[in-house]
Amino acid sequence: MKILGIETSCDETAAAVLEQKNSRIQILSNVVASSASIQAKYGGVIPEQAAREQLKSIIPVIEEALSSAKLTSEDIDIIAVTCGPGLIGSLLVGVETAKTLSLIWKKPLIPVNHLIGHFYANWISLDNNSKTPQFPCLGLLVSGGHSDLVLFSAHGKYQYLGGTRDDAAGECFDKCARLLNLPYPGGPQISKLAKVGNPKRFKLPIPMQGSKDLDFSFSGLKTAVANLIKTLLEIDGQTKADLCRTVEETIITSLIQKTVAALKQTRSNQLIVAGGVAASQRLSEELGKALKQENLARAQLFIPSAGLCTDNAAMIASAAFFEEKTISPLKLQADPNLSLAY
Ligand code: KG4
Ligand code: ZN
Repeated sequence: MKILGIETSCDETAAAVLEQKNSRIQILSNVVASSASIQAKYGGVIPEQAAREQLKSIIPVIEEALSSAKLTSEDIDIIAVTCGPGLIGSLLVGVETAKTLSLIWKKPLIPVNHLIGHFYANWISLDNNSKTPQFPCLGLLVSGGHSDLVLFSAHGKYQYLGGTRDDAAGECFDKCARLLNLPYPGGPQISKLAKVGNPKRFKLPIPMQGSKDLDFSFSGLKTAVANLIKTLLEIDGQTKADLCRTVEETIITSLIQKTVAALKQTRSNQLIVAGGVAASQRLSEELGKALKQENLARAQLFIPSAGLCTDNAAMIASAAFFEEKTISPLKLQADPNLSLAY
């Protein structure tokens, strides 16, 4: 069984072909064209421009996904597409393309929630030894637009445990980076500079520390960083690196505190992490350490490789292997406000 996945929810135009063989899901091709460098000139994503770039890239990206997998449309069994959430102009490009291909090629169409798709990057086998998560498993989604904790009991079945009350973790990285005059997207820039930063020089409040719920809040942290910057006379290279280190550590500590609490509360011993911020090496290192310190060493940690954490279509195709419901191409509509909470 081969699935063509299509993802266009924000500023990445992506297509991938995945195959399920002997119950393992493998990537045959995975193409991502990003307009992030164009968006970087403006310090963030301009929706109309992102949509225009989607339109330019979608057909070449799908063609490349098929040709690099050495396949034609005839070899594809199912088309899977991100139907939301995201920017409406960007989503429409992928959804309308997938609907058209489904009609012309006469292939079933499966809509995928982008947020659920992120988690399914953890079901892709990259080598013969890779293991897949078992249920029940706790899911931590940390992306540019979302920070959520959910408990999966089976494929497609989950309970929402908590999420951000305002900015998402990735959004906080991006906004703090902007305050430090670092280009968009800010997460990777902060990660890079943080490597040479001193964690002891600055202190920032850890958001929601001690709150009994499993919610996050990151907008106050951005304000705290803005206020801290105002107190500094000069921001030289080392000061910037020190600030990056503290920002990174504060966001990661908040994510880990709530994730550890959720693991204890749900008694789950599987943790799947997903979304662009999961590409942070420090997040995976610190999570690993926290599991040991908190006597949760039995908990198995799954984090996709960095390229499968940020937006891609392989995760969308992967999710579709576990979704039985197809939809008529005439009925599918993009929904920019889809969420995990209900
Ligand atoms: O999942 P994603 O590609 O797009 C959304 O669905 O939002 O996530 C993008 C976010 C951006 O905010 C970006 O700054 C952040 O992921 N990000 C990182 C890292 N790489 C990407 N944040 C922290 N450390 C990283 N290494
Ligand atoms: Zn995403």
